[in-house]
Amino acid sequence: MTIIAASLLSADFSCLAEEVRRVEEGGADWLHFDIMDGHFVPNITMGPQVVQSLREKSRLFFDVHLMIENPEHFVEDFAKAGADLIVVSAESCNHLHRVLQTIRSLGKKAGVALNPSTPLTGIEYVLDQLDLVLIMTVNPGFGGQVFIPSVLPKINRLREMAGKRPLEIAVDGGINSVTAHQVVQAGASVLVAGSAVFGSPDIQQAIKMLRTGKTIV
Ligand code: DX5
Ligand code: ZN
Repeated sequence: MTIIAASLLSADFSCLAEEVRRVEEGGADWLHFDIMDGHFVPNITMGPQVVQSLREKSRLFFDVHLMIENPEHFVEDFAKAGADLIVVSAESCNHLHRVLQTIRSLGKKAGVALNPSTPLTGIEYVLDQLDLVLIMTVNPGFGGQVFIPSVLPKINRLREMAGKRPLEIAVDGGINSVTAHQVVQAGASVLVAGSAVFGSPDIQQAIKMLRTGKTIV
């Protein structure tokens, strides 16, 4: 079944614990943390303290998406803070294999994110170190952007490349009831959604709609 990861970036930051409770009750599978440093992307969000504070409030799987330079300096902090999965951005890693090994040595699942313009070739030789690949379907930095359809064939190709490996393919950016269907058809197994979840008056229905790929009226 398709995994729904609710992105906190679109939550009300004045009451994060309450927002987490709302998506947990609404049926989200994962909580997605967008960590931005103002260098790798033109926005600043949160650090490990936020992850740690919310860890006590939720039983959800914590998916930490690092959009930062030098992620190797911070993976241990996020692991200790309670991340279950740590995703690094391929474009920020000079030594991707080493960072992935570090994440796994900390007992966490490891993932890599690829910007829309980044080809799959850079991950061909680290597939055995990966639990998840995050295909960015917008340019990272902000919630509420429009899905980039030219990325769709990359999902198909990655599924082919993965072969029989149990690799999760996640997509992030502009996921709504229409694009959810398209990416799942292409081979995505995890849908990250911010505005489609938190922007909905009925979170439970929104999550159900994303998971089934159907508009519920
Ligand atoms: C963008 C982030 C996303 C963002 C998605 O850089 O990685 O996780 O929250 O937001 P929506 O679902 O609104 O496009
Ligand atoms: Zn994200």
